Amino acid sequence: MTAPFPYKLRLPVFCAPMFLVSGPELVIAACKAGVAGAFPTPNTRTTEELDAWMDEIARALNPDDAPWVTNLITHSTNPRLADDLKLVAQHRPPIVITALGSPKPVMETVKGYGGLVFADVVNLKLARKAAEAGVDGMACISAGAGGHTGHLTPFAFISAVREFFDGYITVGGGISDGAGIAGAIAAGADFVYMGTRFLPTVESRAQEGYKRMVLDANADDLIVSAAVTGTPASWLKPSLAAAGYDVENPGGPTKRDYSGDNAKKWRDIWAAGQGVGRSRAIEPVAAVVAELEREYRAAIARFCNKTDAGA
Ligand SMILES: Cc1cc2nc3c(=O)[nH]c(=O)nc-3n(C[C@H](O)[C@H](O)[C@H](O)COP(=O)(O)O)c2cc1C
Repeated sequence: MTAPFPYKLRLPVFCAPMFLVSGPELVIAACKAGVAGAFPTPNTRTTEELDAWMDEIARALNPDDAPWVTNLITHSTNPRLADDLKLVAQHRPPIVITALGSPKPVMETVKGYGGLVFADVVNLKLARKAAEAGVDGMACISAGAGGHTGHLTPFAFISAVREFFDGYITVGGGISDGAGIAGAIAAGADFVYMGTRFLPTVESRAQEGYKRMVLDANADDLIVSAAVTGTPASWLKPSLAAAGYDVENPGGPTKRDYSGDNAKKWRDIWAAGQGVGRSRAIEPVAAVVAELEREYRAAIARFCNKTDAGA
């Protein structure tokens, strides 16, 4: 039985952290619209900039707004972890999500001020390790996710994790409409982690051409490849082609490096998840959340009708 969530949300959704895309504007707009808003700390070039971002976000939000979330890379190649963690202790984001490494390095600091720690996990082995580390929640990244993707279906992932973990389960991967949110909740998740649906919003920092490509694409326009960053990620084929890759065979994995040259590739090669077909226009986050809520409520009504009819 999951503990009651200590924050108010209009929809059980996290606007997921996206490299080079999520900034204070997107986080604040998401939280004001009633969904948790996240950003990855590498989106700031320096700790001074991170300090300014956290300050801006914390000042803009009221206790009634949805919680803001920061995403820290805990992999040993992240040279900024200790400094970023000091700022976390100072600004106290209600939720910290760890990625690409163990959640252990952040546990004491975040739990110390009463924050929640979630771990981003892509398989059951990592999920078990996160549970053993005592995290409050997990972001289970499933097949179809944009960026560094998982390979399990959300349904298999949620039910397997539920067997050994009674904390919050957030699930992400190709979920881009309200019916998908309802489906994930019905399957046992507490929240949905949505990146791609928020990519072509007014508040997103994605380049105009990137936003347009997401609007024009559908799920067939994606390829999962480790050729760009050394870790399997879901890329928009037209952006790979423009960068000189053979889109049907982009090549084998390159060296993993989360802090160096590989990071620069994200500027020209654009990631998206299988929900790419759901966005029709570049809209403000508030409009996206309002549409998701309408769809979510319609899906719940449909589900209840079917249950009542014994179907
Ligand atoms: C452009 C882009 C950049 C991303 N960057 C990060 C990141 O820096 N850190 C991270 O933990 N996840 C990152 N992700 C993954 C998202 O946080 C989330 O898991 C994913 O978007 C969920 O799948 P969806 O895109 O199908 O909604 C990124 C996703 C996208 C689309």
